[in-house]
Amino acid sequence: MSDLFTVDKKKCVKCGACVRDCAFRALRADVDGRPVFEYPELCMRCQHCLAICPSGAVVFDGRRPENSLPTKGLALPSEESVENWMRARRSVRRFAAEDVDRASLDRILKALGNSPTGCNARGLTFTCFPTRTSMDGFRRDFIQAIEHHRNGNKLLPRWLAIPAIKLRRGEEDVFFRGASGMLVVSSDETTPGVTTPREDVTIACAHFELLANAAGISTCWCGFLRLVQEAIPELLEETIGLRRKTPFYAILFGRGAVHYPRTVQRDAYAKIDMRG
Ligand SMILES: Cc1cc2nc3c(=O)[nH]c(=O)nc-3n(C[C@H](O)[C@H](O)[C@H](O)COP(=O)(O)O)c2cc1C
Repeated sequence: MSDLFTVDKKKCVKCGACVRDCAFRALRADVDGRPVFEYPELCMRCQHCLAICPSGAVVFDGRRPENSLPTKGLALPSEESVENWMRARRSVRRFAAEDVDRASLDRILKALGNSPTGCNARGLTFTCFPTRTSMDGFRRDFIQAIEHHRNGNKLLPRWLAIPAIKLRRGEEDVFFRGASGMLVVSSDETTPGVTTPREDVTIACAHFELLANAAGISTCWCGFLRLVQEAIPELLEETIGLRRKTPFYAILFGRGAVHYPRTVQRDAYAKIDMRG
């Protein structure tokens, strides 16, 4: 019997909630109605048993219920505020010189560990360039890679050479929009249990954007890095140790230097196909 899941018999009220909520039926109820961890190999470690237990009787993988946040009274954003965020969030392409507050960033990245992943595979890595100094170092490696591969790499679009020169000269930063920081989210699809690496990466990036914006940090998705990485797989392998073909995406961030006094108007673009 695995000690991943333990139940405090004195606290268990035999309600069966953990058994019913177990997605792959790793738990069953014994004759008294208490949970038994019968099929540990089916457990995806989602911790629903810990979360759902009304009496706090379940300890999962050393996680004690008293260390969870109680959901009763927990401040959650209203429907209106989430909707407002969706309409008012913008891809920011001008950033202030200053770095973002490190404590906010640390808090956001920790919270990002809660982002959902297929089959709860916790295969994501959050590689962060938190400061302008670290980001400028990455910019230099990026320019060097483009300039090195400019001739002879058929996968590298030729037009990238000009913005790379402009970036080297400090004239314009089309690739990274002058951001003071960047988060690269990756998921190693060779890790056992990882079934949806691309989706996991995208969801985590979207959640980073939401968390960052809520903390007053502006963001912009960085498609250019993917474009260049597809042509020069050594780039992220050498700079951050990312294995070739590993699914990833990047989000630029920093203190925004632009203000949008109104929302855009895109509700009409929602192609809704209601079937009933
Ligand atoms: C997957 C993805 C990649 C993107 N890549 C870039 C990029 O490399 N550079 C950039 O300036 N904007 C990038 N964007 C931002 C889009 O251009 C932007 O979301 C779109 O124009 C709508 O504007 P909004 O985000 O302000 O609503 C990207 C957005 C997404 C979702």
